[in-house]
Amino acid sequence: MKVISSINGMQNWSKQMRCKGKTIGFVPMMGYLHEGHLSLLRKAREENDYLVMSIFVNPTQFGPKEDLGRYPRDFGRDKKLAKLCGVDVIFYPEAKKMYPAPYKTYVEVEDLSDVLCGKSRPGHFRGVTTVVLKLFNIVLPNTAYFGWKDAQQAIIINKMVKDLNLPIKIKTLPIAREENGLALSSRNTYLKEDQRRQAIILDKALQVAVGMIQSGYKDPRRIVAKMRKMIKSQKTGRIDYVEIVDMNTLKPVKKIKGRLLICLAVFFGKTRLIDNAIICA
Ligand code: PAF
Repeated sequence: MKVISSINGMQNWSKQMRCKGKTIGFVPMMGYLHEGHLSLLRKAREENDYLVMSIFVNPTQFGPKEDLGRYPRDFGRDKKLAKLCGVDVIFYPEAKKMYPAPYKTYVEVEDLSDVLCGKSRPGHFRGVTTVVLKLFNIVLPNTAYFGWKDAQQAIIINKMVKDLNLPIKIKTLPIAREENGLALSSRNTYLKEDQRRQAIILDKALQVAVGMIQSGYKDPRRIVAKMRKMIKSQKTGRIDYVEIVDMNTLKPVKKIKGRLLICLAVFFGKTRLIDNAIICA
């Protein structure tokens, strides 16, 4: 397994492999790997000749008051896990090489980036789409893998790939959860024990919502109200949003119908957790 930090080095490696007719699967990440990341790596390993992952804590997707400085990092551990998953190359660039000063070019997917998480994290998705497009141009993958845990991110990246005619296939894999239902996230490491216990309510609330839809509830307001009540029953949870939106537009629906995303963001202390469920009604 190679670790490549230089942008030219990564691009040259990929060009050589593509010239030989080999396929490259790519999993972009910020590191501090958990089972969710590993499931993406395993799938990409199965489906491609070569497997590249990037580890880059991307500064442009963090707001000024967010956790860029304390985002969990452990490159040694990530490297061992990557090797076990059969990664061929870890692309591990430096921020000053990814964004050489004066950096001026950004990519933004309109409308989809301003709602849900984009509303409480202005500029976040502009940072994500910019870095993902840069990584695609550097790694030159055939297929890139993302998790449904970041559903809005996955929808926005799919839209960017479609709108910009990028010759890359995007695959999105299911959310990995702890046995108790808590969605895996690198940020779970911030949670204190009582917060971690209370955060289980998020998956429970989503399951209740899915159950209500399956049993014929048509008014999203009633479902959202029930979810909010469940989450508020936990002392430490502070709701950022709970919404039921159309999967294509990410706009709240007035009636339960079609392919829907039930999604939420809730703070436990300073830690903001997101989770979701997809349902066809
Ligand atoms: O989902 C993530 O870890 C990040 O948003 C990504 C896609 C690696 C871009 O920095």
